[in-house]
Amino acid sequence: MALHYYILLVLLFKDLQQLLGVHLKVLDIPSPTTSGQSIELTCSYELDGDQLYSVKWYKNNTEFYRYLPNDWPPGQFLPLPGVRVDLSKSGEDKVYLNRISLESAGMYRCEVSAEAPSFQTVEASKQLEVTVFPTEGPRISGGRPEYVVGDIVNINCTSAKSRPEAKIRWYINNKPVEAEYITTFPTKLHGDGLKTSTAGLRFVVKDEHLWSENMKLRCTATVSRAVELSNEAVIFARQQHASGLRISNTLNQVGGKAAANTVQLSRLVFIELLVIVYYCSTVFSYVHPV
Ligand SMILES: *[C@@H]1O[C@H](CO)[C@@H](O)[C@H](O)[C@H]1NC(C)=O
Ligand SMILES: *[C@@H]1O[C@H](CO)[C@@H](O)[C@H](O)[C@H]1NC(C)=O
Repeated sequence: MALHYYILLVLLFKDLQQLLGVHLKVLDIPSPTTSGQSIELTCSYELDGDQLYSVKWYKNNTEFYRYLPNDWPPGQFLPLPGVRVDLSKSGEDKVYLNRISLESAGMYRCEVSAEAPSFQTVEASKQLEVTVFPTEGPRISGGRPEYVVGDIVNINCTSAKSRPEAKIRWYINNKPVEAEYITTFPTKLHGDGLKTSTAGLRFVVKDEHLWSENMKLRCTATVSRAVELSNEAVIFARQQHASGLRISNTLNQVGGKAAANTVQLSRLVFIELLVIVYYCSTVFSYVHPV
């Protein structure tokens, strides 16, 4: 008696499985991905009693790979710009793409079809975004060789080409600059699909900016929050003797390391000593008024 129930249960379960048929479990697209990398797109499914007829892959509605178990060879691909399929690593539930480029970005879809009698088709799609990191540091432009307290500094920082566009931040003496001194210019889109961003810094030079003898202006360009890749450019501003307080300014564009201006260093040390002596005498005259 118990055996009859068991057989009945198994038959019912089998029927249920056939009713459910093929269904998708996961479509895994590693996005965003960095240009130059190779990636595996996975489309896992369950046949649940059905026979597999085909797995087809599309990018922006254009088919580029199909897997038909009854064909020979079962895996075949159709060339598409930016989609370089590695056949040896692709199969019934995955497709392997070599050397991702900006052209590889788009909407990817996997479509799984069952054989007769169900002919059921299931599909899923996901966006692939491609990140291109800048290959060099941002550039500082528009600076003058010399500034005096009261002068207006008006300079630009332009990031190297990237995708998405870099976010630029300005720092004066390592302190983030308030938004009111920054002008953000429209992002520039280049022919190769990459973008550059420009942010201007404009402020009046004050004594307080001469903290630590130098005035250091730094800009960073950051692409993507996940990968904090930032580049720096540094301007050194040095005190120089003149009729009042002057700053000699050297533009040093760098891609990682800063180059200090050592020209006239001995002269500067001498001037700094003079300044220190001047300030000391001022302080003393306050403490001990004659
Ligand atoms: C594919 O679609 C994306 C948007 O989903 C678009 O940005 C891209 O230009 C398209 N690529 C092609 C080759 O049509
Ligand atoms: C900064 O860049 C903007 C946009 O490219 C430009 O209009 C402006 O003249 C530049 N300013 C300086 C100081 O170079």
